Amino acid sequence: MQNNLKRTHHIQGLGLEHAGQRVVLNGWVNTRRDHGGLIFVDLRDRSGLIQVVFNPDISKAAFDLAERIRNEYVIAIAGLVNPRPEGTVNPNLETGQIEVFASELVVLNGAKTPPFYLDDDVEVDEGLRLRYRYLDLRRQEMKNNLLLRHKVVRSLRGFLDEQGFIDIETPILTASTPEGARDYLVPSRVHPGEFYALPQSPQLFKQILMVAGMERYYQVARCFRDEDLRADRQPEFTQLDIEMSFIDEDDVIGLSEAMISRAYKEALNLEIATPFPRLTYQEAMTTYGSDKPDNRFEMHIQDLTDLLQDSEFKVFAAAIKNKGVVRALNAKGCASFSRKEIDDLSQKATGLGAKGLAWIQVTAEGMKSPIIKFLTAEEIQAIISHLDAEPGDLLLFSADTEEVVARVLGGIRLELGQRLNLIDESLHSFLWVTEFPLLEWDEDEKRYVAVHHPFTSPRDPELLELEPQNATAMAYDLVLNGTEIGGGSIRIHQHSLQQKMFSLQGLSPQEVETKFGFLMEAFEYGAPPHGGIALGIDRLVMLMAGRDSIRDVIAFPKTQSASCPLTQAPSMVSEKQLQEINIKTIIK
Ligand code: AMO
Ligand code: AMP
Repeated sequence: MQNNLKRTHHIQGLGLEHAGQRVVLNGWVNTRRDHGGLIFVDLRDRSGLIQVVFNPDISKAAFDLAERIRNEYVIAIAGLVNPRPEGTVNPNLETGQIEVFASELVVLNGAKTPPFYLDDDVEVDEGLRLRYRYLDLRRQEMKNNLLLRHKVVRSLRGFLDEQGFIDIETPILTASTPEGARDYLVPSRVHPGEFYALPQSPQLFKQILMVAGMERYYQVARCFRDEDLRADRQPEFTQLDIEMSFIDEDDVIGLSEAMISRAYKEALNLEIATPFPRLTYQEAMTTYGSDKPDNRFEMHIQDLTDLLQDSEFKVFAAAIKNKGVVRALNAKGCASFSRKEIDDLSQKATGLGAKGLAWIQVTAEGMKSPIIKFLTAEEIQAIISHLDAEPGDLLLFSADTEEVVARVLGGIRLELGQRLNLIDESLHSFLWVTEFPLLEWDEDEKRYVAVHHPFTSPRDPELLELEPQNATAMAYDLVLNGTEIGGGSIRIHQHSLQQKMFSLQGLSPQEVETKFGFLMEAFEYGAPPHGGIALGIDRLVMLMAGRDSIRDVIAFPKTQSASCPLTQAPSMVSEKQLQEINIKTIIK
């Protein structure tokens, strides 16, 4: 550097033990306070903040220049570290015991006034934050998020490396990969009218790598899915993608648990107990009404179908007659809910597909409910005892198909958990959901589709012939605090079984040949038994950082409408570029 003020120290780590030393610091002006005779600058570098004092008695030149610097100017200072005088120690600042008396100041660059305050506790419109992401990322909180992400990924890589996994890159320009979302397409210039697809995941390549004998593969893989965006969904996101040969479900699950608990230890110094609880898909749906249960609070859904077999209440009777179920939640302490609050819950239930939400308020004075008159005394008693109801409780009932009831009571349960503050936000609560159904019937397309993906091995292949709808998959999802953060399966490795799965899903031999011919061919050359998992790194780090949106743990995320306010992508391209790739748009 021309100015001779080459940095000697990073700010973090400076303390009383440096008192009396000359230091040279480089960074940004976080704040500047003019106290007449003295100027105080909070200087910021990536590592932290420190107070710098400009005193004309120490250097008139530095003091005069300091009068002209503004927030976010880039500066270099030299000076002596001093213990702060009694009473001015700042316990909120890591370097709060000391300050630097500046004897030299060089302005390395000026800065316009930022369009928003860079303090962590100021709410700023996200569009603005993304447009000026380089300013947003200067905020301590955002820097911490990226640092955490770095530590997590470093830990995951380190663990897998020790376990004998090799990091192998797979193509970004590739053929369509079936994960159920829409593809992003890239036109080929060399092959007019033909397109690459960006990978929705490296699924097919990682299986081919197993056929290639790699045995243990991983990749921190960028995946692309053109789907509707939400707080936990981006059009491009990052998976920790893993595949192993000669293993079973327990191996993948055990490896994932060890890997994750170590990442928590290394990145957050938190102990995460293993093994994680496991629920079958059935259990998860019955108890929590969700295949990604938030088990940080109880309020389990209870089944009343058997108790109400003979009920004359038409709502319950009709559901049971149609092979549906009657289930209920006991909202402890909610008997005091107003009619409006109960109506809001009913409305939420209707929004989730319910025809209604029956309720009973259990009070010291007795039951209050529009349905009580339809139930016998024995039925009421059975409900009360099955739900452990006490005065003060609100019982909420849903009667419908199993699927609707799960969705409705699962949604109401989450709503109540939040509303009643039942969720301990400090918890990191993992669980596995196993034994997913293999196939689901797609009414629109009149065919079965794979619940996980079409390469997942059935647990009970003998069911495929006669009752494929009841077959379960060797598939598992990893759930953290009610968010799905990973999923995987044991794969099919036999040519004939894969063929059968494709045909069950309505793919003609032609379609199989064009879409997956290379995989089917590979299966004829000694494919080992194999399986794996992919973790959503963005979601994992989001939850580790205690954030609500994966955008906060991605340096340059896209908005809800899949655009980038910083670079303005996507954008129009020139006529010439379009011609080169033989594309004509129909948009004026
Ligand atoms: P799956 O589709 O379940 O499995 O994806 C694995 C994990 O990736 C994360 N994820 C996302 N994160 C952010 N934005 C998105 N749009 C998004 N979509 C998915 C989730 C999810 O659990 N090939 C299989 C894995 C396998 O079978 O090994 C796969 O991609 O956290
Ligand atoms: P109705 O006799 O249809 O007015 O319903 C009586 C009560 O049952 C109302 O509180 C409705 O909200 C409720 N209800 C109606 N359909 C259902 C259903 N499928 N499951 C649970 N409660 C319902």
